[in-house]
Amino acid sequence: MQILDGKFLAAQIKAEIKSEVDLILSEGKRAPHLVAVLIGSDPASQTYVKSKAKHAEAVGIRSSVYELDASTTQAQLIELIWSLNQDDSVDGYIVQLPLPKHLDESKIIEAIAPHKDVDGFHPVNLGLMVAGNQNAFIPATPFGILEIFRRYSISTTGKKVAVIGRSLIVGTPISILMSRNTEPGNATVTLLHSKSNHVKEVCLDSDIIIAAIGKKDFVTADMVKEGAVIIDVGINRVDGKIYGDVDFENVAAKCSAITPVPGGVGLLTITSLLQNTLKSYKLKQS
Ligand code: GUN
Repeated sequence: MQILDGKFLAAQIKAEIKSEVDLILSEGKRAPHLVAVLIGSDPASQTYVKSKAKHAEAVGIRSSVYELDASTTQAQLIELIWSLNQDDSVDGYIVQLPLPKHLDESKIIEAIAPHKDVDGFHPVNLGLMVAGNQNAFIPATPFGILEIFRRYSISTTGKKVAVIGRSLIVGTPISILMSRNTEPGNATVTLLHSKSNHVKEVCLDSDIIIAAIGKKDFVTADMVKEGAVIIDVGINRVDGKIYGDVDFENVAAKCSAITPVPGGVGLLTITSLLQNTLKSYKLKQS
């Protein structure tokens, strides 16, 4: 059984980004620039944004954070988005979610210029991704999962994949990516969700399980085929400890490869964002 080591991959990807940015700087060009917009003072969001900024700077990507009061109006936020859309010094930006309840998340995301949407949440990027367009920004978590398959040389072609959870930022996009006509991809995908019957049967028949449901111990050993590959996207905080969606100890004894939590997919979401920022920079230059 192989542990799919997110920490190792994140370090490898960051080193690759850093060497590309170093080359850009050595040519006398400006650094790529990532902006994060944070509204309100949700502690988890503050931690995420700080971490994104720290990792960006560590690879030479310039980072700026706009911290806005929780009472910021829809019109004020849209005005900031329009100014970021116009600002040639900004390659990509994210609006940290969740937003305070009085703000309309869909309208905010739709105001972001698709070519600066390094989260890949804009409907245009979703459409480009479905069409297999190389210029699409792929959302961070699905992009990180693709990197695990690529970098551990796990072929997905012809495999049966069960995706558990249909969220717009993980389950839905990874199900589309796994069924595309490319590697990683070329899989036969079943997207399981809260209304699915036969969850156990489908999982037992799957070569790869991607769990993104947000429930500790949802995937148990009796649901897993001997030798399956398990990608655990869950981040569940219970009594101050972080758990995935998979009963790790019992499932690990049965599968051929598994991502731990913490130390798996989660660490790759930040590197994906940095990869998208560098991609956005390079697309602007070309
Ligand atoms: N909140 C939790 N994850 C994310 C993410 O990937 N992007 C944004 N913008 N907000 C988030």
